[in-house]
Amino acid sequence: MRVLIFDTAEKAVVHTARLIVEQVQARGDSVLGLATGATMVPIYAALRAAYRAGQISFAQVTTFNLDEYLGLSPADPRSYRATMQAELFDHVDIDPARTHLPIGDTPDPKAEAARYEAAIAAAGGIDLQLLGIGRNGHIGFNEPISSLTSRTRVKALTPDTRAANAHYFPDDDMPRFALTMGVGTIMEARHCLMLATGPAKADAVAATIEGPLSAACPASVLQMHRRATVVLDRSAAGRLKLWGHYAQVEEDR
Ligand code: PGA
Repeated sequence: MRVLIFDTAEKAVVHTARLIVEQVQARGDSVLGLATGATMVPIYAALRAAYRAGQISFAQVTTFNLDEYLGLSPADPRSYRATMQAELFDHVDIDPARTHLPIGDTPDPKAEAARYEAAIAAAGGIDLQLLGIGRNGHIGFNEPISSLTSRTRVKALTPDTRAANAHYFPDDDMPRFALTMGVGTIMEARHCLMLATGPAKADAVAATIEGPLSAACPASVLQMHRRATVVLDRSAAGRLKLWGHYAQVEEDR
């Protein structure tokens, strides 16, 4: 695991966005795994800027998002599909047919999950999977005690996750379930790139990096990944203990 600690969240974001830009520059037809959440908002701003500046094209890029709320239609502004359209897809030259999220209002979630897995496989797998982390250590919506070999499926959201995202649902109608890539699905990505910023993530980050490896903290499975990069700001890194073991706090290049 490569752990990079920056002194500010802004620098952590710049570095993470740069790794994604470099992936697309190196392989124009990259398959990107994407994530939503407040942490990722500045990442998509940076990718839009890189596109506008002519640094990257998404014309041949394929994307698969981690998850979607069960029961929300893609047109619902609170859906992750709508979020991705607003934050990235509507602003770049990506082929809409190459952008994938689970369909939240599917009548058959099991079949939808199987379809999603098959689509990832048909695309040749994910080259770079962007990941956030929940305060409880979830990746995607793989809540604590998710099987570490799980595939795309329906998961119940924990009270902590529902509380963390409740402000997106002011009418108190937040979905109780989501369709999410499994932990095993995520682990098949050729590179996992996690970004965590802010003190609320410090405990989950410490559990992820310093272990133990446990389904109680699903993100800790990244200890088993052949190529995992974890980008942190100082506050998200605040509960780590093995400071001497990490790459020195890096200034942005
Ligand atoms: P956040 O979500 O960026 O909104 O904190 C991260 C996550 O739950 O994975």
